[in-house]
Amino acid sequence: MFMRKWPGVLIAFEGIDGSGLSTHSKLLYEYLTSIGYQKVYLTKEPTNSPIGNLIKDILQRRTSNLTARPDLMALLFASDRIYHLFYEPIRWNNKIIKGIMRALEEGFIVITDRYVYSSIAYQSIHDKKNNVRLSFNDVMRINWFVPDADIVVFLDVPLSICLERIKNVRGIIEAFENIEYLSEVYNNYIKLLDELKNKNIHIIVVKGVDEKGDVRSIDEVQDEIRRRVIDVLRHEIID
Ligand code: ADP
Ligand code: TYD
Repeated sequence: MFMRKWPGVLIAFEGIDGSGLSTHSKLLYEYLTSIGYQKVYLTKEPTNSPIGNLIKDILQRRTSNLTARPDLMALLFASDRIYHLFYEPIRWNNKIIKGIMRALEEGFIVITDRYVYSSIAYQSIHDKKNNVRLSFNDVMRINWFVPDADIVVFLDVPLSICLERIKNVRGIIEAFENIEYLSEVYNNYIKLLDELKNKNIHIIVVKGVDEKGDVRSIDEVQDEIRRRVIDVLRHEIID
């Protein structure tokens, strides 16, 4: 039995860089709006708050004196998440709703491109250079104030494909976008998804390749996401 935490629904998209999070969260948003859900809000982490912008500067190596060590990044992402949960302004019918928590209380379907699960996957690592090692528990403790999502959509795309997409599309390689690091992140996600099974969360894992290892098209992946999300919304969440 699924316990409702709030009138709305929080859907978090997760996966490694280049797995298609921004593409698919946006397409799901457009779809839900087009079929008549009225209160739908699309958002992302890192946010565009001053803290989120500092994070992006560090990741793109635009700050000369800070590097992306996991302890610093875990604390910054958690601070940015406070902004996201409680301060991000959501414009709606001539009023401003403050933060996604309030939006969920007001019945919104909130779709977020990354959430606390990214912190657990990306910051629970051993940074040998800086001699910092964070466990899942360390990162979860830093995020003690964060409620779980209702639905987690994990885009399971092989690392080689993700790296190829990042190179082709963005050109810039961010601090986290290298094969050794992202394979550690991928393994963390797999371990984390296993742990999340015991919680009050609907986990939807969508594969980016078929049984033969061929890449699935955006439409194919999106169709599966839509079908499975709607199934959860209609049968288990929204009456
Ligand atoms: P992320 O937000 O996870 O970094 P994006 O959504 O920006 O990833 O996707 C990266 C690139 O990969 C984009 O150019 C997007 O069009 C492409 N892409 C996403 N999903 C697929 C897919 N299933 N097949 C082919 N290309 C895809
Ligand atoms: P990304 O979605 O790639 O942002 P943008 O589209 O603005 O480039 O996210 C930036 C990076 O931050 C990505 O590599 C994942 C990472 N990240 C964490 O390490 N921890 C977190 O808690 C979050 C939310 C993201």
